[in-house]
Amino acid sequence: MVVPAAGLGTRFLPATKTVPKELLPVVDTPGIELIAREAALAGASRLAVVTAPRKQGIMAYFDQDELLESTLAARGKTTQLEKVQAVNNLVEAVAVNQDRPLGLGHAIGCAESALDDDEDCFAVLLPDDLVLPFGVLNEMIDVRQRFGGTVLCGFEVPEEEVSNYGVFDLEEPAEGDDPRVRRVRGMVEKPDVADAPSTVVAAGRYLLDRTIFDALRRTEPGKGGEIQVTDAIELLIKEGHPVHVFIHEGGRHDLGNPGGFIRACVDFALNDDSYGPSLRQWLTGRLSADAVSHAVVSGE
Ligand code: UTP
Repeated sequence: MVVPAAGLGTRFLPATKTVPKELLPVVDTPGIELIAREAALAGASRLAVVTAPRKQGIMAYFDQDELLESTLAARGKTTQLEKVQAVNNLVEAVAVNQDRPLGLGHAIGCAESALDDDEDCFAVLLPDDLVLPFGVLNEMIDVRQRFGGTVLCGFEVPEEEVSNYGVFDLEEPAEGDDPRVRRVRGMVEKPDVADAPSTVVAAGRYLLDRTIFDALRRTEPGKGGEIQVTDAIELLIKEGHPVHVFIHEGGRHDLGNPGGFIRACVDFALNDDSYGPSLRQWLTGRLSADAVSHAVVSGE
């Protein structure tokens, strides 16, 4: 499986000037470890992590820290020791370098050399997109077994939100077919509500047929001068390659911007035994204080 993590993270500056966004903690666990958990659950033993020279901390996170571990062990801090070791028991991470941030498509292209010769398809997980609960990759693998080709992950969103996303143009399901699996005719990036071909938007999980590498080589830089993976997928669709979307019915957090990241932290913290109860109490008080001050200001 491939995890592209070489982007600049401009939506999260200034923090991402020196801290890769993939290492920002959701409660206490970096996004990259959550992605490694998801990949391991889907059966991966090896992750090709695409990183940039300025983001070396990401690979360091997968290294063992013998001094830290022996110190925790000597001090009897077993819970912390288990937390530190958890990532090493999930997957083996191998680094793939992307020298310059030339786009997600380019980053995926860099991972070609990390695949085995007999891997005719591979999964891509965007580490700033949490797709919950884990398990959507297994559903996508089932779709690939039935239809072959490439499988993407989609979400239904309210109509008024489509302009924030890449929106799928989909074929209608045949009668009796699983309505969550639809053939993709094309994609439109951030359309006006009136022009949106559906309310199913793209999420950061891809099961790509190996032919994508050839398509990427034939893809010119698009929006922002970057090589876009969606342009390469469009090329495959035009050439008759089957592309399906699996419409996931769970939740999602965009860790790539402060707003989405804060929601993820609150969501995970509310479910955490240590932090949940007091956070809930504090939030309830905070929100009712807010309601009172809002009422005073608006005269309600
Ligand atoms: P994003 O566009 O969400 O990430 O790319 P970004 O470019 O880091 O962030 P902004 O837009 O500047 O805030 C989706 C994923 O693709 C990776 C990113 O690291 C992210 O995980 N990516 C993007 C690369 O690996 N290389 C690139 O050249 C671009």
